[in-house]
Amino acid sequence: MCRVIAVSNQKGGVGKTTTSINLGVGLARMGQRVLLVDSDPQGHLTLGLGFPKNIRVTLKNMMENIIMGIEFDPKEAVLHHKEGVDVVPSNKLLTGMDMSLITVDDREKVLKEYLEMMTDDYDFIIIDCMPSLGMLTINAMSAANSVLIPVQPQYYAADGLTELLKVVKGTKKRFNPEIEVEGILFTMDSARYNNSKRNKKAVKAAYGKEMRVFENSIPRSEAIAEIASEGISIFEYDSRSKGAKSYEMLAQEVLNRA
Ligand SMILES: Nc1ncnc2c1ncn2[C@@H]1O[C@H](COP(=O)(O)OP(=O)(O)OP(=O)(O)O)[C@@H](O)[C@H]1O
Ligand SMILES: [Mg+2]
Repeated sequence: MCRVIAVSNQKGGVGKTTTSINLGVGLARMGQRVLLVDSDPQGHLTLGLGFPKNIRVTLKNMMENIIMGIEFDPKEAVLHHKEGVDVVPSNKLLTGMDMSLITVDDREKVLKEYLEMMTDDYDFIIIDCMPSLGMLTINAMSAANSVLIPVQPQYYAADGLTELLKVVKGTKKRFNPEIEVEGILFTMDSARYNNSKRNKKAVKAAYGKEMRVFENSIPRSEAIAEIASEGISIFEYDSRSKGAKSYEMLAQEVLNRA
């Protein structure tokens, strides 16, 4: 059975894209069939895997086909990355989608309808969300079995989570009763710093009873920062690095749960 995971946090720059790519490749290295979906007009997942920004067929076209009720091949947008993951790319042309959706019937379920055309072909579909709680993010949550929430262990980390979790609850109530929180994942963790320790403790105290907070966190590392410009995952960049080990452990935890 295919498991769809939305990687979301409306706060910018917390490691959503980095986590989508490396969790995806980590799962593929464990023999899973993985599709990564770039649901951000910034197109960072697409660029971060080395694809160009002017790709002709993107997620936008696929969603438009659904909206217009046109018959189409869902695989037309799918690209193959050499590390064994498939990718539905995006670029800035997706920007207007939030607005276009407003007038559409069942506007929360357009992405879900598209992804359902491919659930037989994949074990995991990972959606890299944009840093907002707009219509594209609601679409991702409506399509997902779970939401994975990357969080940087900073002082205000817990603040934005309240708002995000409200949206998850709202989606659960209105569009997707199945949805659950996959877990809160600490990223860019400077584990030796007391500040980091303190903030992780605070998030665990606030949310640990309601939902999983991943034991294993992702360290802040030069290697992880480097990969975005290389078009590869941390595994290809340096499979023995701490960053690679941490994303491997995350993939294992996610796989165990599925
Ligand atoms: N563990 C890490 N160590 C060091 N740098 C990191 C790490 N994870 C991510 N980065 C860097 O931090 C920046 C933000 O990461 P990323 O793009 O994954 O965040 P994001 O949440 O997807 O951002 P946005 O909200 O803009 O979509 C990038 O430059 C990335 O290379
Ligand atoms: Mg991103």
